[in-house]
Amino acid sequence: ISLRGLNTFGIAKNARFFTVVASINGLKEALAWAKKQNQKVLILGGGSNILLTADFDGLVIKIEIKGIKLIEESEDYYWIEVGAGEIWHDLVMYAITQNWAGLENLSLIPGTVGASPMQNIGAYGVEIQEVFESLLALDREKLTLKTFSKEECKFGYRESVFKHGFKDQYVICSVRFKLRKKPELKVEYGAIRDVLNENGIHNPGIREISDAVIAIRSSKLPDPKEIGNAGSFFKNPTIDQAKFTELKSNFPEIPGYPTQEGMKVPAGWLIEQAGWKGKRIGEVGVHAKQALVLVNYGDGDGMEIIRLSEQIRSSVKEKFGIELQPEVNFI
Ligand code: EPU
Repeated sequence: ISLRGLNTFGIAKNARFFTVVASINGLKEALAWAKKQNQKVLILGGGSNILLTADFDGLVIKIEIKGIKLIEESEDYYWIEVGAGEIWHDLVMYAITQNWAGLENLSLIPGTVGASPMQNIGAYGVEIQEVFESLLALDREKLTLKTFSKEECKFGYRESVFKHGFKDQYVICSVRFKLRKKPELKVEYGAIRDVLNENGIHNPGIREISDAVIAIRSSKLPDPKEIGNAGSFFKNPTIDQAKFTELKSNFPEIPGYPTQEGMKVPAGWLIEQAGWKGKRIGEVGVHAKQALVLVNYGDGDGMEIIRLSEQIRSSVKEKFGIELQPEVNFI
């Protein structure tokens, strides 16, 4: 079957076999079938962080395990458990109607709840690890369940153990979040403050923060329903202070944010300065409003996107001496 409608890049590649699972038992059956038939398996959530470069000769399993449950509360917190197949943004919207605080800065991120811990999704000053409690995952070989604590997930910037040590070994089935009764609003991000000020909002709540994030994202990130993309294509690189100081003397405008590992530089700025913003090559290109996003205008192929990304990497390397790393997973 064609996977075109199942990846937000809109790449037209096929899967040999395809199934949708709505429960852990269904998932076990599908994995057992693939093992018996000697088929490779690709687990799919919202398909919003993958780049398909070839047909998939095996079984694609789309996870549609649903459910949002309040499981416990204390004076300060709510603990909720959410099925991996829930749409991330739907969860955020639901949390806001319930007055569960902590997810509002993560509004409008594409993809599913099950995919969210894989790369510790983050935006506008918040990462999922700040609201994460634990997750339940199925061992793909043994077909047994294991609970992962926050520590066991080894979260980092766009990183978790599921991208490294345990890559392709587990399927995330549900995630528990710890949300606040009294919001701790994160408004340090300049663009959020600007939107609130423009709208004359002085005492924002979680809904106003969410609305501001939605406004910002909609203004610069392309809607995958209209134009294929997977959000940021590269990670923002971190360089050491000496390297940053050296770059600053040649490029006084260069932005940088200090982190524990060094200075984080926005890849979008580097790509824009290297002259790529808004460039189109055939059916693929660099988004005109956010240079970190590569787009498929219609009939683009995964390999065309990779070729474009390689050209971008080498010009950024040449101009700044910085190696960009992809954020999207190549399949
Ligand atoms: N910039 C440019 N030109 C561009 C784009 C960005 O000069 O074309 C510079 C500007 O200086 C701007 C700065 O980069 O102030 C930061 O831009 P932006 O706020 O758009 O954020 P980002 O660093 O480009 C990251 C995440 C996004 C997330 C935003 C907001 C990564 C790889 N990307 O982008 O996440 O929404 O911050 O927090 O960390 C995603 O992962 O798919 C994603 C969209």
